[in-house]
Amino acid sequence: LRPTHRLLSYPGPVAADLKREEQSSRNVETGSEDKTPKKKFSEVQKERREQAQRTVLIHCPSKISEKKFLKYLSQHGPISNHFFYESFGLYAVVEFCQKESVTSLQNVTRTPSMDTEAAIPFKSRFFNVKMKNPSNQTSEQPCIQCSNHTPPSSKKLSELLCYAESIDDQLNTLLKEFQLTEEDIKLRYLTCSLIEDLAAAYFQDCIVRPFGSSVNSFGKLGCDLDMFLDLGEIGKFNTNKTSGNFLMEFQVKNVSSERIATQKILSVIGECLDHFGPGCVGVQKILNARCPLVRFSHQASGFQCDLTTNNRIALKSSELLYIYGALDSRVRALVFCIRCWARAHSLTSSIPGSWITNFSLTMMVIFFLQRRSPPILPTLDYLKTLAGAEDKCIIEGHNCTFVSDLNRIKPSGNTETLESLLKEFFEYFGNFAFNKNSINIRQGREQNKPESSPLHIQNPFETSLNISKNVNQSQLQKFVDLARESAWILSQEDKDRPSPSSNRPWGLATLLLPSVVNSVSLAKKKKKKPASERIKNLLESIKSSSPENDTNTNGK
Ligand code: GTP
Ligand code: MG
Repeated sequence: LRPTHRLLSYPGPVAADLKREEQSSRNVETGSEDKTPKKKFSEVQKERREQAQRTVLIHCPSKISEKKFLKYLSQHGPISNHFFYESFGLYAVVEFCQKESVTSLQNVTRTPSMDTEAAIPFKSRFFNVKMKNPSNQTSEQPCIQCSNHTPPSSKKLSELLCYAESIDDQLNTLLKEFQLTEEDIKLRYLTCSLIEDLAAAYFQDCIVRPFGSSVNSFGKLGCDLDMFLDLGEIGKFNTNKTSGNFLMEFQVKNVSSERIATQKILSVIGECLDHFGPGCVGVQKILNARCPLVRFSHQASGFQCDLTTNNRIALKSSELLYIYGALDSRVRALVFCIRCWARAHSLTSSIPGSWITNFSLTMMVIFFLQRRSPPILPTLDYLKTLAGAEDKCIIEGHNCTFVSDLNRIKPSGNTETLESLLKEFFEYFGNFAFNKNSINIRQGREQNKPESSPLHIQNPFETSLNISKNVNQSQLQKFVDLARESAWILSQEDKDRPSPSSNRPWGLATLLLPSVVNSVSLAKKKKKKPASERIKNLLESIKSSSPENDTNTNGK
């Protein structure tokens, strides 16, 4: 067993922390630590948002001179960072040191005049730059270096995995290749910030925050961009400032429920994006879902966006996952691996239906890591006991309190390798009593299922809800079969491992090959189940993926 690298660290603990640590050592034992303090989720969000507010997005001609372009823009103030990327054309993301530079640039920017069409004069931070005199600028152009935000091709990935030294190395390679890059993260925050400018036309002090896999540290390159239109800040501003004998309130329109208010707000924002949003295309208002949303493509960034409001609990879930992802370097590697594995075998899909979601898979990995001995991750109830007064958080009557300062959480003393964890994960869920037990990360142990859904994963904050209510029996069975087969393949691994010079897939590469596992799986199914049952399962899966049966709580 090799000691695991720790991401976590401690500033000098204060007395109260020491006491908590003493209590915690029964749950999670101390491991090796390094001393780099980790940022709180709210600090990261705040920093990135502020960065995004001084950033602009510019569509450029492909032959542009980087040097001249930057020199031209620096007339408006110093630039702290920039990069180019390609997405149906060349784009530049330019971050100024000061916000005022953006206003200065906007002041010299014109609205284009067109011959046959008319422009809607919305002044955003998304520009188009043209060369005044292209002929004398193109000659000495070196090639512009573009940042890449696409995942590796399956051929490249299988090569990388073949050359890895161990299964642990393969999992870390997968993580490195699929995780969001710094540029991709910046572009995600910028896109939210651009949408915020549009929403601010209606709701002056609103904030558009990214949530979900864009910020919870489990996002794979190409994942969707979940956005939360936060109107909560608006009311808060004035309440603290009031003094004297009176309390001022805005005159507002009332509607009969919170849900109707959400639908009305999203409806106008949807219209606004559709009519005035530069680069926002394919706007769909999906207002009757459990969680109403506006879905659209942001063409310039290439992101598929889902905008919701009144969805504060989802933001809290993202923070919780961020904490779990940062506590131990094995967590993200394992989650990425399971997400890729599930995708490779069509256990997950971008289409809503009766399949397991990435969110549910992540919960399953977290739960599994809580069940190790000693545990690799603490329970949510334990994270609640570490919370300070400033962490107290009640949303719509649900207690969402947990510690926000990562540095208060003791690292685990567990030293299992990723290879062993992966095998154990498949064995654990290949034999889990899904028929009677529920997965519960709050308590970190199985609970009796409160209802009969095939897969029951308790929503960590709205504890009466099941986040995998949409999953039907046949999808769960497919997951179990594949988990068992993958455990078997890994147990054969040592016997089968090819010499490094042969180009044969091994370890993780074998697990991600749909053909291998599926053929085993199909052969087994043929033996096990009569055709009538397979057809019944198929029909069941089609039935539960039709819109009227769509129970996916995220409304997707
Ligand atoms: P990918 O987009 O698949 O990469 O992962 P994701 O975690 O972003 O999932 P998704 O876009 O489907 O949902 C975004 C966020 O909404 C999740 O991270 C959760 O916080 C929340 N969410 C998604 N599905 C559910 C659900 O079924 N129940 C609850 N309560 N929250 C959900
Ligand atoms: Mg998402």
